[in-house]
Amino acid sequence: MAEHTQPIQIDTEILQQYVDALGCIGWQAVGGVIRPVFSTAWVQAREQVAEWMRAAGLEVRGDAVGNLFGRLRGGDDSRTILTGSHLDTVPLGGKFDGALGILAGLVALRSLLEQAGQPRRSLEVVALCEEEGSRFPAHYWGTRGMLGTIQADELERLRDDQGETISEAMRTAGLAPRRYREAVRQDLDVFIELHIEQGRILFDERINLGIVQAITGLQHQWVTVKGRADHAGTTPMDLRRDALQGAAQMAIELSRLVEQEGRPAVVTLGKWEVKPGAVNVIPDEVNFSIDVRHPDEETKQRLAAAIRARYEAIAQERGLAVSSEITSESLPSGMDSALQSVLIQAAETCEASWRAMPSGAGHDSQEIARHLPTAMLFVPSVEGRSHSAAEYTTPEDAARGATVLATALHRLAY
Ligand code: GLV
Ligand code: MN
Ligand code: MN
Repeated sequence: MAEHTQPIQIDTEILQQYVDALGCIGWQAVGGVIRPVFSTAWVQAREQVAEWMRAAGLEVRGDAVGNLFGRLRGGDDSRTILTGSHLDTVPLGGKFDGALGILAGLVALRSLLEQAGQPRRSLEVVALCEEEGSRFPAHYWGTRGMLGTIQADELERLRDDQGETISEAMRTAGLAPRRYREAVRQDLDVFIELHIEQGRILFDERINLGIVQAITGLQHQWVTVKGRADHAGTTPMDLRRDALQGAAQMAIELSRLVEQEGRPAVVTLGKWEVKPGAVNVIPDEVNFSIDVRHPDEETKQRLAAAIRARYEAIAQERGLAVSSEITSESLPSGMDSALQSVLIQAAETCEASWRAMPSGAGHDSQEIARHLPTAMLFVPSVEGRSHSAAEYTTPEDAARGATVLATALHRLAY
């Protein structure tokens, strides 16, 4: 490892230019970015990032599942130190979630090449895909492609809201879904992801950086409540089997149940469908999503079971049928302690204040950490806003994070 007594300087202006330009791809007039995986905006963003990677002197390569890599070859080119994050966004998301980690990695590699020359070990920056699971129920798709944990049946089974399968969408984006196994990487030594905090701890405490100790676990459920469609004018209130009335009661009671558990337990019911969806028809079917999280796996499972018991009881009381499917599940994930120390040393070299903290958001790092040493570096989110157009990290904070990332990568690769 190189002794890094000096911070690696990054080009603050170019980082900001890249953040602004990438944030325009998929930006909507109402405010917010819509850049679902394999969409036209996503393809355009990927091409733009590839161009910036080439301009930074990196070797550019895409894989079969949709990831994009920029490589800085080391003297020993047999293994890889990887950094980066995801390019896809939630609907009407911000300009920083995922994007900043890719761009900070890119700018860090560019600075390292300029200031320190060829590394001893190869460095690579990656733009991962479908971290959010916003288009397909395929959380961490790019990461799972790299790790070899995509199941063959997912290609034809996973569909978006329009009914398109993930393999059709991949083909439209110019990818070759059948070759998904070719995306598997055996050469990765470590992964470091810079990300916005997406909460307000660093902002409130005026601390420059968060060193993540562990990432929370989550479970997603898709719940279907079935009642009976009837006439809105002629069916007395006491004779209805209204699926929406039942689902609304479920929503309130589930939230209360998790509130009673206390912090850091959280539950969100963010996606709803009401059928048949007419003003004068009593809804006969409602589907909604549940996102429940806790950093302790046992508590998460206990909460998920209590939630299920609660909505089943409400359905029974109201004469409704309820069924559910677990669409995503991730275990809490610890970050590598030696890599955390490298990040802490780099923060201190750069005279940045830091604190250790957990992550309440899910990240590619939590999947990658199960396979190789992984660490995360958080930069502050103004007022903790994220998954919204209001998401913002100041240019100073973004640049400081990228400087610390570059300094840590220098230590690891030179
Ligand atoms: C990803 O942003 C998640 O935590 O849902
Ligand atoms: Mn996100
Ligand atoms: Mn993210």
